[in-house]
Amino acid sequence: MNILIVSGSRNPEGHTARAVNAVLEGGKAAGSDVELVFLPELNLERCRQCDQNGWGICKSKGRCVAEDDFNPLLEKILNSDVSVFASPVYFSDLSESLFTFLSKIQRISINPEAKKRIENKPVVGICCAGGSGNGAPDCCASLYKILFRTGFDVVDMVPVRRQNLEAKLPALNLMGKWLETKPTSA
Ligand SMILES: Cc1cc2nc3c(=O)[nH]c(=O)nc-3n(C[C@H](O)[C@H](O)[C@H](O)COP(=O)(O)O)c2cc1C
Repeated sequence: MNILIVSGSRNPEGHTARAVNAVLEGGKAAGSDVELVFLPELNLERCRQCDQNGWGICKSKGRCVAEDDFNPLLEKILNSDVSVFASPVYFSDLSESLFTFLSKIQRISINPEAKKRIENKPVVGICCAGGSGNGAPDCCASLYKILFRTGFDVVDMVPVRRQNLEAKLPALNLMGKWLETKPTSA
């Protein structure tokens, strides 16, 4: 199994990184190939809302006009068996890098050919609140909404707060092993 983990945190030792590393270790232990990508390290332009009507070649061609790291990473996701999207909780919501990235995939999903490749792709969402600890469920709701609307098969959402991170790490490790089965929500 080929698992791609996309993190919207820039801290390789932060709360989100600890959570995704538990998934990564579980996946590897189960025999999967697992890759972890940190979005803030990439060159990702926000959507240009190209045309007067707000659309662009996202709709007509299923790719973004910007020559940044978006199209290659989208291709990686579409070629993976399972993807994990993880965000640090910012203002009870997604980090800017993950929102930018997912809002562009949401547009791409309007293209029928791209939609076919997105549908049935199992994904998991993880949101880590590392300050007060509040806002992880709200962040999960945002993440679920955009992933579901884009057409992914959202097989699980995990809210984490710094106060329960240690308790959730074993479950996240098990989740990595479970992903080896290429789960579906059906
Ligand atoms: C702009 C901003 C907003 C934040 N909002 C919240 C919040 O709503 N709830 C919370 O518990 N922590 C909040 N935090 C703290 C982060 O969740 C915390 O720093 C977390 O550890 C970041 O994840 P990371 O360690 O994986 O980078 C916020 C941090 C920033 C920078």
